[in-house]
Amino acid sequence: MNPCYSISTNITKCNSKIWVKFAISQYAENEHMNFQLNEEQLAVQQAARSFAQNQCLPGVIERDTHMIHPTEILKELGQLGFMGMMVDPKYNGGGMDTLSYCIAIEEISKIDNSCSVAMSVNNSLVCWGIEKYGNEEQKEKYLKPLASGEKLGAFALSEPEAGSDATSQRTTAIDKGDHYVVNGTKNWITNGGKADIYLVIAQTDTEKGHRGINVLIMEKGMEGFTLGAKEDKLGIRSSDTHSLLFQDVKVPKENRIGDDGFGFKFAMETLSGGRIGIAAQALGIAQGAYELSVKYSKERKAFGKEISKHQAIAFKLADMATEIEAARLLVYKAAALKDEGKDYTQASAMAKVFASEVAMKTTVQAVQVHGGYGYVKEYHVERLMRDAKITEIYEGTSEIQRIVISRGILK
Ligand code: CAA
Repeated sequence: MNPCYSISTNITKCNSKIWVKFAISQYAENEHMNFQLNEEQLAVQQAARSFAQNQCLPGVIERDTHMIHPTEILKELGQLGFMGMMVDPKYNGGGMDTLSYCIAIEEISKIDNSCSVAMSVNNSLVCWGIEKYGNEEQKEKYLKPLASGEKLGAFALSEPEAGSDATSQRTTAIDKGDHYVVNGTKNWITNGGKADIYLVIAQTDTEKGHRGINVLIMEKGMEGFTLGAKEDKLGIRSSDTHSLLFQDVKVPKENRIGDDGFGFKFAMETLSGGRIGIAAQALGIAQGAYELSVKYSKERKAFGKEISKHQAIAFKLADMATEIEAARLLVYKAAALKDEGKDYTQASAMAKVFASEVAMKTTVQAVQVHGGYGYVKEYHVERLMRDAKITEIYEGTSEIQRIVISRGILK
């Protein structure tokens, strides 16, 4: 190894030309710094972009206003292979990498975040966990229809009194030999009322704390499993968000994923990957709002010229573009680390906290660029601003991401 690389304090003593050459070659060799999309990724981007324009855009305002679930659109996404993108083709998946998945989420999120969150939960919280830790029977029975989009999945961790503090599970899964009996309530569950298959996190042994938590696959229609209230939300309004009620639900033991007590680690690991998807969603929201702002500012005139020619607006666009590019690099890096089989816990938390805050800032500025038009539904940026907020909350708030990042730094 080049001594300049291993001992940074000696860099100044080295021949600077050699150092620069070496650094450039390291940069080029380091795959996750080289984000030239390959042909397959470009094809995914193009397919998702045209799907968003042709299938998601028509009716998006009406669906948002009246909380109409995009059931048919999700079915079409499934038929095109977008609901199980990273799953092995032998289980009906697309066999693609995480970067392709992020690119697809980004494109759909420019237009319809109720679609992209359903897609994200199905791909990275449900399919991923079953494929990584499920057994063959579980993959045959549950993963195949989820990956093809024939069935929809939901991930049930949050509870009325356990959101960020995820170890404080009140839902219980009592071991009865060949089955568990589940009791409790889950809150704010994405796809909650529309899903067919649910991954439910529940406490089996309170004495063991988080090591006494399990993850069970539950199905719609199980006796004692009913839906609670449907949430009326600020953003992602056509996404179905429900509470789930369990009263003495018998769940066969073969529906447990992994060993007894593995549920909390399963949830944490699954969420680390899920956060990359939400970061990609936030990136798409920001990119969508930015593109609308560029377009509008070139058309709208004030004080005798297009508003883009006023520095007050041009600088806003410059800041948006810069921050979005930084967010994109973090998202793509987290995806690349995951694909390379490296630890991506911190990278996904960084990508999520940064991209979601960029989404919030960018959409607020986009509304400002649009002025009065920005405040009405027709111009789409007010919806993106409302949608952006949830990316700072779900799959771990920004505060939780900062806990994950700082623990990684300080451990
Ligand atoms: N991968 C694997 N294991 C992990 C892990 C990870 N990323 N993070 C933690 N763990 C393990 C730890 O190693 C530890 O195990 P051991 O004790 O056996 O070594 C165990 O989990 C407990 O970890 P901590 O002591 O760090 O636990 P904590 O109570 O301090 O909490 C936390 C850590 C990061 C704050 C966690 O509770 C957390 O992420 N909270 C946020 C939960 C969340 O994201 N909720 C979102 C709901 S889902 C959703 O929004 C879905 C939707 O519908 C859109």
